[in-house]
Amino acid sequence: MERTGTIVKVAGPLVIAEGMAGVKMYDVVLVSEARLVGEVIELRGDRASIQVYEETGGIGTGEPVYSTGDPLSVELGPGLMTSIYDGIQRPLNVLREKAGDFITRGIRAHGLDRERRWDFKATARKGSKLIAGDILGTVQETELIEHRVMLPPGVSGELLELDSGEYNIEETIGKLKTDSGEEIELRMLQSWPVRKGRPVSGKRTPNIPLVTGQRVVDTFFPVGKGGTACVPGPFGSGKTVIQHQLAKYADADVIVYVGCGERGNEMTDVLMEFPELEDPRTGEALIKRTVMIANTSNMPVAAREASIYTGITLGEYYRDMGYKVALMADSTSRWAEAMREMSGRLEEMPGEEGYPAYLGTQVAAFYERAGRVECLGSDDREASLTVIGAVSPAGGDLSDPVVQATLRVVKVFWSLEDKLAYKRHFPAISWLNSYSLYIDSIEPWLKEHFAEDWTDLRDEAMALLQREAELEEIVRLVGMESLSPDDRLVMETSRSIREDFLHQNAFHPVDTFTSANKQYRMLKLVMEFHHAAKAALENPDVDHEALFNLPVREQIARSKYIEEEKVDEEFGNIESTLSKQIEELLAQGREV
Ligand SMILES: Nc1ncnc2c1ncn2[C@@H]1O[C@H](COP(=O)(O)OP(=O)(O)O)[C@@H](O)[C@H]1O
Ligand SMILES: [Mg+2]
Repeated sequence: MERTGTIVKVAGPLVIAEGMAGVKMYDVVLVSEARLVGEVIELRGDRASIQVYEETGGIGTGEPVYSTGDPLSVELGPGLMTSIYDGIQRPLNVLREKAGDFITRGIRAHGLDRERRWDFKATARKGSKLIAGDILGTVQETELIEHRVMLPPGVSGELLELDSGEYNIEETIGKLKTDSGEEIELRMLQSWPVRKGRPVSGKRTPNIPLVTGQRVVDTFFPVGKGGTACVPGPFGSGKTVIQHQLAKYADADVIVYVGCGERGNEMTDVLMEFPELEDPRTGEALIKRTVMIANTSNMPVAAREASIYTGITLGEYYRDMGYKVALMADSTSRWAEAMREMSGRLEEMPGEEGYPAYLGTQVAAFYERAGRVECLGSDDREASLTVIGAVSPAGGDLSDPVVQATLRVVKVFWSLEDKLAYKRHFPAISWLNSYSLYIDSIEPWLKEHFAEDWTDLRDEAMALLQREAELEEIVRLVGMESLSPDDRLVMETSRSIREDFLHQNAFHPVDTFTSANKQYRMLKLVMEFHHAAKAALENPDVDHEALFNLPVREQIARSKYIEEEKVDEEFGNIESTLSKQIEELLAQGREV
């Protein structure tokens, strides 16, 4: 590695060096004899501003800077699943072994294990013409994930050699004669610069929902596979819980979890908990189909900035294999704050609240890497990368620049409200303020795969909740007694929609996940009560109080605890109990 320049200034994570004429923007450089990893983020003549990913204390002027000649990149290949990395893909367990709990500086650690041997099964045929993205062969990476080794973007040609066998990621698995006639060796290990999206053949509309088992999400504010969503909310409103629920239950093959903790020990909790989580679909450890990027609070600010890009690049790599990937970032505010800090140190012209003027462009560029795509390669694979970002504005203030920049690009907004969290209504997603712009595009799919009247039910329930909000004003002024029986019923049914359907306890073994079929049955049941009661109210003799307090309503309230295997039978029972009790009530009305 050659010495390129000399440090002239050190300001926290920012180092200025001169004599850097040979380097390019975003090149990785090693700073001082301690060889701290940094990235060139500004170049003026031969003067470079370097964002350093490690603590710079004790580093001084006159010390050398070495150039690597490469942009900040991640390693790609078998071994990513189950890994837990810092923001620049250093495995936390390796760092811990080398340095104890505190990450000391200058530790180089490869993202992927060089020693480990993998059983590679060649699937591409020798002599065949291959294009970028074509699958050379597979490795069973974990019990849950088959790793598909692909010809990297930009490479195509004739496959000269390829053999199954036990290899480490650096060994040659085959040879390819490129279109320009050059012979190159093929390996499982590849790399990709994190700030550049990996190419795809095309993008499609995200018109298949990501089914998450969370009722308020799936039924009211769904996100399409390959879509984008954001969860802004104040501290303690449930951002982390919802991200974990999605990581566990969303019907994605691969999870990328980028954690930047808000509280000091929050990431430590996540790091302890996550590897213990069970994959509800397979009973295996969830971590076997997860890769985590963790920024604990003792990590330097710049590494947080990089972590978002590291995470999404890993997500794109599994997407390219043909998988449905979901990325959760908790919280993107920490990323934006890192950007703000670097921008401040560069003395750039500040935008709103000190964030750089390019905040919006950066946020947009990140979410634009989501998508439902046609992968590179000749087999027409389709895949998706869904991105769900939490945002944690101070005091939950939605006018926060990061929230605003995010809302401009994402298509789903789950608005967490502390008012609801305070009342212990969880998930504290406001049904009045949240929205999903995927509703129309996924409607045909829902009708085909679930129920013809799915969207009608949802629209009707939503209309009731909106009507409830209006009626609440009246009730506040003149009391419940002043409402007409029909409006009373609106209040009753709305309460049932909120408490029996939308409220969902993440920590209850059954309630934590609800299949799409059960969600439909639950909402249908609530609405059946509404329709039956509304019809009953047309009878002048019916006892309103008795109607609103029918014993079956308790069964409706408890329907969330019905186990999935018993859904058809038990919902059928409750439905017949409902019509029986209504009939009885009407019969009593006739007797008096
Ligand atoms: N779906 C849920 N079910 C039950 N409790 C919840 C749910 N969501 C949040 N909570 C409660 O709220 C607390 C705070 O949630 P958390 O996700 O840590 O908030 P945030 O990340 O927004 O600061 C949790 O510890 C839990 O007690
Ligand atoms: Mg949190």
